[in-house]
Amino acid sequence: MQVHKTPAVTATARKTTDLDADLLIIPVFEDDNLSDEPDLDRASGGEYGGARQRREFTGKPFEQLFTPLGGDGWKPRRALWVGAGARKDLTTERLRRVATIGGLFARQRRFGSIAIASRPVEAIAPGRALQALVEGAVLANYEGMSYKTADQPVAWLERVELRVAGDVDEAAVERGRVLGECTNVARGLSNEPGNVLTPREFAERASKLARDVGLGVEVLDEKQIAALKMGLLLGVARGSEQPPRVIVLRHEPKKAVKGVVLGLVGKGITFDTGGISIKPAENMDKMKDDMSGGAAVLCAMAAMSRLHAPVQCIGVIPATENMPGGRAMKPGDILTSAEGKTVEVLNTDAEGRLILGDALWYARTLGVTHLVDIATLTGACVVALGKTTSGLFGRPESWVEQVRRASDRAGDRSWPMPVFDDYKDLLKSEIADFTNTGGRAGGAISAALFIKEFAGDLPWVHMDIAGTAWAEEVKPYQPKGATGVGVRTLAELALDVESWSKLA
Ligand code: BES
Ligand code: MN
Ligand code: ZN
Repeated sequence: MQVHKTPAVTATARKTTDLDADLLIIPVFEDDNLSDEPDLDRASGGEYGGARQRREFTGKPFEQLFTPLGGDGWKPRRALWVGAGARKDLTTERLRRVATIGGLFARQRRFGSIAIASRPVEAIAPGRALQALVEGAVLANYEGMSYKTADQPVAWLERVELRVAGDVDEAAVERGRVLGECTNVARGLSNEPGNVLTPREFAERASKLARDVGLGVEVLDEKQIAALKMGLLLGVARGSEQPPRVIVLRHEPKKAVKGVVLGLVGKGITFDTGGISIKPAENMDKMKDDMSGGAAVLCAMAAMSRLHAPVQCIGVIPATENMPGGRAMKPGDILTSAEGKTVEVLNTDAEGRLILGDALWYARTLGVTHLVDIATLTGACVVALGKTTSGLFGRPESWVEQVRRASDRAGDRSWPMPVFDDYKDLLKSEIADFTNTGGRAGGAISAALFIKEFAGDLPWVHMDIAGTAWAEEVKPYQPKGATGVGVRTLAELALDVESWSKLA
């Protein structure tokens, strides 16, 4: 079964009465007199005004009111009024969510088309607002479950029309459509069970997607990985019957900023049992999403290619299972990384940092100048920041800030965490260069410090998405399951390459 579908998206400056859609979505603010839409309340037969007067509907974020529409010359017959909160608090993320709510509502009622009446907003550039609305609508066209045999036809949004004031910014529409779609592709990959999405299957799907969008792709197999002496990746892979892969992606646009090569590294554990330090049974099934960082790198690069981001970019995705097989690495084992550094494995469940270590080294050998890695890395990060904010680690501060701002634009919330050298003591080993675990206190930070050992002297950011990759609760603007976090952040970062030097 198809897990997402990209609707036909258009933007027009047509009058609201002429919008030809099953459902009209109207964002409404708390402080809103609808002066730009003087006929709308009347078209609802006064339903909207009445609900407002009775305070059934106040415009608070994500409130919903469903009314009929009608009267002289009105094409749309139904409206969903969606609360957008106080005008002064408006962000692109709020607009994105309003659009998702509209899209999800429409699909529940089996409306195949929506029109969104974008409202005048001062604080947000029109192109940014338009992009966010398109992204939100496309994000609504995603389904989590895909292996039910009973015939349950899915209702998709076939058509989305954005009503804008003035000129139509086609580039913004295209950005929204591509970023929404690529996020959905990543969600689909993360939702795939471990027996379907093995490292080899991940590499196959990555290769196909790469070819479809014009990215360069090369897949290293277990022999090539051994020839490169990637002892950390091989150590993790040893417990599994499934051979590991390293997926290498290349975005080489004709027009690119000179002297800059972005290196993206994504954790691709297709299933994490914990290995010999095995995880408890409860919720272990969720560990099928432990390749979400890898999916984010793949899908962000697909977006970069489709949007012609003016920066050269190399993606490296180490992919393996973490299994407790008879040949699995054991606590106390010593592994030697491709770079030559030795690691004492104290806990085989701290596998992500191991495979990232070799992958970061490999990205450096390919000549990248700036590094970002993204990984469902630590439960400690979930404890620190919860399930809505990703952790950011790295240096220098200006590069961390660059990524943070990109995540803000993307609607992937993130927040900086420290990587002071004082924390390095946590990784001290008696017999190797360092251990792979730093204990419970500051667990997300010691994990970051481990990875830092493999970043050389490059500007580097590590994004811990352990809490944000999977939504446990349904929200009005988000279904349960994989979120596709990181896709839009990494793509926005690349699209904004011209501003990098300004911060540094
Ligand atoms: N994939 C997990 C991290 C994780 C935990 C992601 C919960 C999503 C939700 C990672 O490989 C892991 O097992 N980390 C350990 C590290 C520890 C053994 C030092 C953890 O966080 O418990
Ligand atoms: Mn683990
Ligand atoms: Zn893991």
